[in-house]
Amino acid sequence: MPFGLGVASGDPDHESVVLWTKVFPVTGSVVPVSMAYDIALDDGFTKVVGSGLVEAAPSDAFTARVVVSGLGSNSRFWYRFRTHDYTSPVGRTRTMPAPGELPDRFGLAVSSCQSRAYPEFWDWHLELATDQTVDMVVWLGDFIYERSDSRSVDDYRDLYNTYRGDERLQASSAAHPWIFTWDDHEVANDYTRNVDRERRAAGYQTWWEHTPTRLPRPTLEGLTVYRSLDVGGLARLLLLDCRQYQDGDTVLGADQLAWLARASQHDRVHTMVCSPVIASSLEVEDVLPPYAFEAHPADQQQLLAILSQSPKPFIVSGDLHAAMEMEFAPGIPEWMAPPLSSVFPAEFVQYLPFLPLVSPAVTRAEPSHGYLQVELTPSSATPRFPAVP
Ligand SMILES: [Fe+2]
Repeated sequence: MPFGLGVASGDPDHESVVLWTKVFPVTGSVVPVSMAYDIALDDGFTKVVGSGLVEAAPSDAFTARVVVSGLGSNSRFWYRFRTHDYTSPVGRTRTMPAPGELPDRFGLAVSSCQSRAYPEFWDWHLELATDQTVDMVVWLGDFIYERSDSRSVDDYRDLYNTYRGDERLQASSAAHPWIFTWDDHEVANDYTRNVDRERRAAGYQTWWEHTPTRLPRPTLEGLTVYRSLDVGGLARLLLLDCRQYQDGDTVLGADQLAWLARASQHDRVHTMVCSPVIASSLEVEDVLPPYAFEAHPADQQQLLAILSQSPKPFIVSGDLHAAMEMEFAPGIPEWMAPPLSSVFPAEFVQYLPFLPLVSPAVTRAEPSHGYLQVELTPSSATPRFPAVP
């Protein structure tokens, strides 16, 4: 199949969205593949509102993306790619509400951490694909898990082919627009500055190739992934990169902190911080030594100072492989999304139910899977956690 990984869309604004696919030409081909794309108001493509050409280059592993603009705000669209006699699966996407617009509700699904070691939990992608409450997916990292010998772009491309080759992920990718940040496993477990530049560059390049984002192609110096997206007048989403700049005393780095201070000053109703790692302090050193923001108190204090000045702030996070409800600070909740498929370490899982008793920040801790639903309305932001099996 030339479209063996399906289609995906992402990074919508109020009048445009990124469409993505990957083609598999004859092995060894070095010729770019030219494709047409169509975007329509219906899944039968009788009301096409945009068409054009896009090229899949061998230097990008024959992935292709196009930013389709001039679309109506807060609307659903269907899209597909065509080349020669082949047509891709049909994807469904949407645009954001117009600037200042306050829709009655907007539904987000938040998740991270999809290890292939637990394929049964990947069925959550089918649930996500058919979830009528979801307008958009926020992915907080660990989209792939590297192998210990992953070094080159070809190594990482193999992983993306395996992960995106799963038809369940293809279903959820085709059903909603996705917004991505990354964590460590897109390069290497718990990496900071200890991984050489070439390996990091290979991880970043292949993440970019296989992600429907409007970010520019990474360079050897890296890629600025932190950014904000607005859901009309309803919310500003602030996507953090907690990995690339982690060094010594800092999680976010000075530039990202300065950006966050500026971007969190806005007039939307809600401020939703999307953090790949936990922001709150657990204060359970015996079980889990401080890490993430707890281990970097200067950044944690800055985050608190910034959010204290922002409209209706809350944090969604991931990485711990548990679903948790916490209080980052009075009036600033943190909701940790469950992992899509990765599991909480077996030696610690017995302690999870006791976490709310011993950690002042925690009110819920569950070893569940799937995704967190967040419903935004003009008056509230409400989390819904999946049932514990
Ligand atoms: Fe993970």
